[in-house]
Amino acid sequence: MFDAIAPRYDLVNRLMTLGLDRRWRRATVDALALPPGALVLDLACGTGDLSRLAARRGYRVLGADLSEGMLAANRSGVPVVQARAEHLPLADGSIDGLVCGYALRNFTELGAALAEMARVLRPGGRVALLEVASPPPGPMRAGFTLWFERVVPRLGGLLSDRDAYRYLPRSTAYLPDDPALRSLVRQAGFSAVGRRLLSGGLSQLVVATRVGRPGAAAPAAADSTAREVHVAPPGPRAG
Ligand SMILES: C[S@@+](CC[C@H](N)C(=O)[O-])C[C@H]1O[C@@H](n2cnc3c(N)ncnc32)[C@H](O)[C@@H]1O
Repeated sequence: MFDAIAPRYDLVNRLMTLGLDRRWRRATVDALALPPGALVLDLACGTGDLSRLAARRGYRVLGADLSEGMLAANRSGVPVVQARAEHLPLADGSIDGLVCGYALRNFTELGAALAEMARVLRPGGRVALLEVASPPPGPMRAGFTLWFERVVPRLGGLLSDRDAYRYLPRSTAYLPDDPALRSLVRQAGFSAVGRRLLSGGLSQLVVATRVGRPGAAAPAAADSTAREVHVAPPGPRAG
């Protein structure tokens, strides 16, 4: 599905969020609050919007995504690797930060993906997870529901793949609610799990810190083999 929507993914994204996604992405990268030069993984990077922002902030960035089509459309200019969130080709404790935009609800094994994020992050490392949300009941919720369930599938159908954009509103059902999601994040090995609603609840940002003392060796994981990363050559950098 993501291969199919990749070519016009950015255009549909901008239109369906009325450009607000740029603001939400900036908030996500800001939430990492790591020193310049920190190594950051953009998990499920897609076309690379978060990667590009993170690179502009002075982070060293690596992107990973399952979809060949998305990686082919990736113009972030950072190295990318084709990989599943549940099995990343990175050594334990090898990265300082991780961002993930609008992908949690697509992971078929969310618990396993969160555990894998914890495995590859060093103790004290930071995650910033951006996802869709739904505003609290009221006029904004009503407007959002109309837009998301009626306008977005039509817009997506017109410009891209109809089935994929019909799946989008349905996919939110796969996202655990706030307490359940935070509890999953904690169970995976994170502390200081916080959540912010963005633009009145149109999106949500979950931030957390990998447990363990910074500077200490990463806790042993079930599969602690240092796996080598094979990265695709970076595509041309977008302006
Ligand atoms: C809605 S897109 C978001 C892309 C990008 N993060 C953004 O913010 O625009 C979801 C992405 O998750 C990727 N994805 C879905 N399941 C995945 C998995 N199990 N492992 C890695 N990537 C996955 C898809 O290929 C797609 O690029």
